[in-house]
Amino acid sequence: MGKLVELKHPLVSHHLATLRDQSTPPHQFREQVRRLSLLLAYEATAGLPLKPVSVRTPLTETECEELGCRIGLVPILRAGLGMSDAVQDLIPQAEVWHLGFYRDESTCQPIEYYQKFSAHPPETAFILDPMLATGGSACEGIDRVKKWGVDKISLLCIIAAPEGIEKVSAAHTDVDIFVCAIDDHLNENAYIVPGLGDAGDRIFNTL
Ligand code: PRP
Ligand code: URA
Repeated sequence: MGKLVELKHPLVSHHLATLRDQSTPPHQFREQVRRLSLLLAYEATAGLPLKPVSVRTPLTETECEELGCRIGLVPILRAGLGMSDAVQDLIPQAEVWHLGFYRDESTCQPIEYYQKFSAHPPETAFILDPMLATGGSACEGIDRVKKWGVDKISLLCIIAAPEGIEKVSAAHTDVDIFVCAIDDHLNENAYIVPGLGDAGDRIFNTL
């Protein structure tokens, strides 16, 4: 059974406040997405397997541990791109594979427009998307990553609506979900309230 983790930390609360603020300009918005992505990834990677490795320090040979599986980051375009550099900084050997979805404005259904996966799927994948609203994009993204052949999948979102969490949890019971905040509800346009507006537009300055 997948778990749902909502980060509870003063730094998360602090950086979320700036992220949500409508007066935060795009360059600062991107910095906040980056900071929150680092905090999310720290938590989401806590269960990664390790393998032993011998290391020679300046004084002696010693037994250490290093990550023991191939890791893929799957940012969902566009807004997920705002998260992937930060997570890759924490896991430099991670591979980055891309999925592109946009929400049709009238139906709010995700439309796929890009997929770049290799013939050899990683063992673990972290799907990155700042916003989990209706859950349509996340469900489709998880579906693609499962069909690719990945065994262990985690979804990392900065802000989630209860509706989106419910949809993903029901459709993909084996997927772990990590979020910085669970907000109140979706409005009539399927935007998260209180939310932060359109994450992609705020990251890429296309409002
Ligand atoms: C946003 C967001 C998610 C999706 C969430 O992307 O980044 O991918 O909406 O909504 P859902 O849970 O209802 O599917 P958007 O479609 O605005 O595209 P963008 O990233 O290119 O701005
Ligand atoms: N996509 C966003 O960027 N924001 C929302 O609130 C919902 C979907």
